[in-house]
Amino acid sequence: MAGRPRIHFTPARNWMNDPNGLVFHRGRYHLFFQHNPFGADHAHMSWGHASSPDLMEWTEHPVAIPCDEHEEIYSGSIVIDEENTSGFGHSALVAVYTSHTAEREAQSLAYSVDDGMTWTKYAGNPVLDRGSQNFRDPKVFRYAGDAGDYWVMSAVEATEHRVVLYRSDDLRTWTFLSSYGPAGAVGGVWECPDLFPLLVDGDPEDVRWVLLISLNPGGIAGGSGTQYVVGRFDGVTFTPDRPVPDDLASVDWLDYGRDCYAGVTFSGLPVEERTLIAWMGNWDYARGEVPTSPWRGAMTVPRRLSLVTSGGRPRLRSLPVLPVGRAVDADGALPVAARIDLRARIDDGGSVVLTIAGDEGRASIVCTPDAMSLDRTAAGTFAPLFPGVESARLSAPDDVMELTILVDAYSVEVFAQSGVAALTDLVFVGDRRGIDVAIVDAVVESLEVSDLGGVA
Ligand code: FRU
Repeated sequence: MAGRPRIHFTPARNWMNDPNGLVFHRGRYHLFFQHNPFGADHAHMSWGHASSPDLMEWTEHPVAIPCDEHEEIYSGSIVIDEENTSGFGHSALVAVYTSHTAEREAQSLAYSVDDGMTWTKYAGNPVLDRGSQNFRDPKVFRYAGDAGDYWVMSAVEATEHRVVLYRSDDLRTWTFLSSYGPAGAVGGVWECPDLFPLLVDGDPEDVRWVLLISLNPGGIAGGSGTQYVVGRFDGVTFTPDRPVPDDLASVDWLDYGRDCYAGVTFSGLPVEERTLIAWMGNWDYARGEVPTSPWRGAMTVPRRLSLVTSGGRPRLRSLPVLPVGRAVDADGALPVAARIDLRARIDDGGSVVLTIAGDEGRASIVCTPDAMSLDRTAAGTFAPLFPGVESARLSAPDDVMELTILVDAYSVEVFAQSGVAALTDLVFVGDRRGIDVAIVDAVVESLEVSDLGGVA
């Protein structure tokens, strides 16, 4: 069994999948999550809860919104109702979640007037019911712009590959605005949408909207994955900036690995601090025997998002929020939670291969001048769909490749070229891990390893 991650949130016990209701409120970051309070399988879905002062050290709290005999509590979001538009109380936290039964999915509310510690389900639930079996994952935000000032909900009609947008003045009654899709990658159901503004290259005059759409299966690396689209939102309609390609290689992906899914961003943070957490898992094998106990499921590190111009258009950049590291010897044993910074000049036809090897297996990160890939064919065989090689195309200016690699107990997250491409994979290589670097027609200009420590 793999040890517990240090810099990634895991629940003390039992099953976890999607992050839910991410909100920064009164100096704390709250992370709610899809959780089975009773076991390590995907059942009895309820909202678990943890909070943190700094996005690094998390404290788990009692289950926030439990399932009952009528329904499971599927994914959703939380807003801070500063003006008491809903009547639940000034600065009440209002959770908007999916009431899931075998026959129906509809959107419901719960509210908290004690900073997220206890929750009351609204007696008038559900607040939005389309008579659909696959209508879920509401993400609500406050829109203030030319069209007015109101709440906007994005949610999915999952099997129709459609994101539907609604508006409300009080969170209780909702009016249809528009829909987006099908477009882009449609090889599976659409889930967990998120629509938010970002500045292009930090320019406050150039605001674009990013629509994240998780997709399962049909992701770029196989199984679950998250595509994104950059465009404009006028308060009613989301319009992409460019015709959305439908071949997987041309679609923009939040992450090119196997284990970054259902990622959504925090409410309550300024535009420059837009921060995402995703589930480090994939429905291709998550339900199987992922070898961790007594918990099953981990989150990615929190990632700060921005838009940078790359290849002539705005691309999403993700950079991890991390504890300060302490430099260690690159030839020594790899710390449980390590950060590796690699800078290499790679000639045409050349490569740099960085291998993380432990007593039960190995995982290799292969860099060429125009791609990076991660090979985990020898890093866990507990499920037939687990082994594989994932890759992302890159453009390395002057053939210089820069990678930041986070290795925790059983995960690897690679951020390439200042975060323009990310690749996240679970890897089970065992203990006593070290790294080995092999080069062909390349020069490693720097290789630094630091211990990210973190709480055990
Ligand atoms: C995404 C998802 C959501 C749903 C939740 C159920 O991983 O399938 O669409 O709300 O998980 O746990």
